[in-house]
Amino acid sequence: MSRSGAPAQTEAEKRAAGYAAVSEVRSGMLLGLGTGSTVRYFLDGLAEAIGSGRLRDIRGVPTSSWTETRCRELRIPMVSLTEGAVLDLVVDGADEVDPVLDLVKGLGGALLREKMVAQAGERLLIIVDSGKEVRVLGERAPVPVEVTRFGWRSHLPLFRSLGAEPHVRRSSGGEMTVTDNGNYLIDLDFKAGVDVPGVLHEALARQAGIVETGLFLGMADRVIVGTEEGVRIREREGDA
Ligand code: A5P
Repeated sequence: MSRSGAPAQTEAEKRAAGYAAVSEVRSGMLLGLGTGSTVRYFLDGLAEAIGSGRLRDIRGVPTSSWTETRCRELRIPMVSLTEGAVLDLVVDGADEVDPVLDLVKGLGGALLREKMVAQAGERLLIIVDSGKEVRVLGERAPVPVEVTRFGWRSHLPLFRSLGAEPHVRRSSGGEMTVTDNGNYLIDLDFKAGVDVPGVLHEALARQAGIVETGLFLGMADRVIVGTEEGVRIREREGDA
């Protein structure tokens, strides 16, 4: 369901953003391929461009088993993340984008691989519908953290001391969600949003057993926002 209005409008915005990102891909590129319902459109567009011959010699590093399956279905050539690999462009979705292009990611559960792939990229291009734009991170979406299964309950007091209400991610059947890396996910709810995302990330990252957070700070170079009128481009300050 949309956060910005009717589901059909949100879907149209995701599609517009996803397809617009294909125009940033050049033949020969090594790509990072994100996860989610907006990336789905990017992958569709990419496959069409490869199929028509407009793009050649494209290889992509998938960020999740979902992306891997989708690429196989669409015949998008894949490679794994290897030593010294520098990806020309990483394209991914986000759950929230703030005014300085800091992000919350991970509601799709792939945050660890997404961050590893993003950090191996020369450029991170984010594609979102307009409902993902926020003033303060955490104001609409929870901040997901990936934790080892061992001793995961031991982190709950830390989360609460940081002002969050922790919710263990579960499937509709009530089972704890297990990531592609065999870990659990905890969604941190901040009623009024996150005060200083960098401080929160550091506090979480210092705790052994917390594998990664869904705060992607200072990483996105460009955001394509799907809107009712088409797409709007946002650049990291200094990059425009
Ligand atoms: C996956 O783990 C997430 O980081 C997604 O990139 C994010 O949730 C955006 O997904 P949608 O495009 O489906 O909203």
